[in-house]
Amino acid sequence: MKKFSIVIAGGGSTFTPGIVLMLLDNLEKFPIRQIKFYDNDPQRQKQIADACEIIIKEQAPDIEFLATTDPKTAFTDVDFVMAHIRVGLYAMREKDEKIPLKYGVIGQETCGPGGIAYGMRSIGGVLELIDYMEKYSPEAWMLNYSNPAAIVAEATRKLRPESKIINICDMPVGIEERMAKAVGLSSRKEMVVRYYGLNHFGWWTDIRDQEGNDLMPKIKAHVKEYGYSLKEEIEESQHMDASWMHTFAKAKEVYAVDPTTLPNTYLKYYFYPQDEVAHANPEYTRANEVMAGREKHVFGECNRITKAGTAQGTTLEVDEHASYIVDLARAIAYNTYERMLLIVENQGAVVNFEETAMVEVPCIVGSNGPEPIVQGKIPRFQKGLMEQQVAVEKLVVEAWTEGSYQKLWQALTLSRIVPNARIAQEILDDLIEVNKEFWPELR
Ligand code: NAD
Ligand code: G6P
Ligand code: MN
Repeated sequence: MKKFSIVIAGGGSTFTPGIVLMLLDNLEKFPIRQIKFYDNDPQRQKQIADACEIIIKEQAPDIEFLATTDPKTAFTDVDFVMAHIRVGLYAMREKDEKIPLKYGVIGQETCGPGGIAYGMRSIGGVLELIDYMEKYSPEAWMLNYSNPAAIVAEATRKLRPESKIINICDMPVGIEERMAKAVGLSSRKEMVVRYYGLNHFGWWTDIRDQEGNDLMPKIKAHVKEYGYSLKEEIEESQHMDASWMHTFAKAKEVYAVDPTTLPNTYLKYYFYPQDEVAHANPEYTRANEVMAGREKHVFGECNRITKAGTAQGTTLEVDEHASYIVDLARAIAYNTYERMLLIVENQGAVVNFEETAMVEVPCIVGSNGPEPIVQGKIPRFQKGLMEQQVAVEKLVVEAWTEGSYQKLWQALTLSRIVPNARIAQEILDDLIEVNKEFWPELR
């Protein structure tokens, strides 16, 4: 069996140790000969890398490991690039969240003005990774989950149309795990779903078990009552904080708007933005919660492992829910024809929707990449929402490419989350001020 070489870009990410542990847990399914970390922040990456080196030595000493900030070393001789970078780090996420709140507008990592600001930072970072991959390992595939995935996907479609990048999100995976639990299945893998939308902006239309029995009525009955909250919580490390519990409960109200489908949790920001503002603390947003929680724990624990020289008794957990990344890599490596939700160019998958939109739909994945499965025509309600949102995303990419202030102002004005053009401009001017280092100059 061939053994693979992978580079994790964003080696200093809070998710890196959980993903490494998950990869080590899946070596029988997906054998690895080499793991490399790449980051542009050597101090941050070193703390994660030193601990992961110990973990790898203890669990799989045959795997070669290195961490580097040199693109050539990182991207040479790799089969897969697993990319999760955050351009501007949590310091900038905090600004994305807090600046809109000053104007009574919700600030969120991937939605509304915060997501637009983050998109303007991410595009250049992800394009750079693609260029390194194509230069040093032209046969490799990039599995990208760097956010905001919708904007990043549109940018790579438009600016690197031939590149072998697949954009994927873990939110549907997390929600499907909850649905499975809610109806008494042991795994989401027992379900076959139909789904359409944009990233963080979509709906399930059909969910069946392997025998073809319709599970929608049972899941809907649960969501109508509890949203995606569970009576007995599952261990799903990515989405456990109190703010996530609030999001899962809120899905009940999101579902009520269209009970013929089941919604992605992120629609709460578009349907009930004022509730989110009322619930938010402008002095302490999700970025603060993550810095005090996940970041502190992961870095603290990595530093402890390095000092102790062993990972025995570690509280770092296998990010089991991230095993969808292994499913995707295997699909390409072994031509498994796995059915997965991916962010791909529409080209008719949603029949009555713009062909060049990047949509999230089920795909069959084999060695030549994803083949989208046609989801048919969509109703007026979803179509209207998606047309507005996809225009926002396309305007952001045009603004980035052309250095256009006007287009970015239009993007903010068009976002459902922003009440009017004046507030859009005030938020934009504040965002420009703090993003000078990361955004192209806008004229
Ligand atoms: P983090 O800040 O802990 O890690 C990001 C790392 O990327 C940092 O070490 C940073 O130095 C590095 N980085 C930034 N710019 C870079 C560049 N240009 N080149 C190389 N490295 C660079 O962030 P995190 O919370 O661990 O999240 C990482 C990313 O994964 C974010 O984009 C987040 O939104 C995304 N994410 C996506 C999903 C999904 O569903 N698609 C799920 C979870 C996380
Ligand atoms: C979900 C989304 C990701 C997002 C993450 C935020 O998993 O799918 O796209 O990055 O939540 O989680 P956080 O814990 O950083 O707020
Ligand atoms: Mn996501």
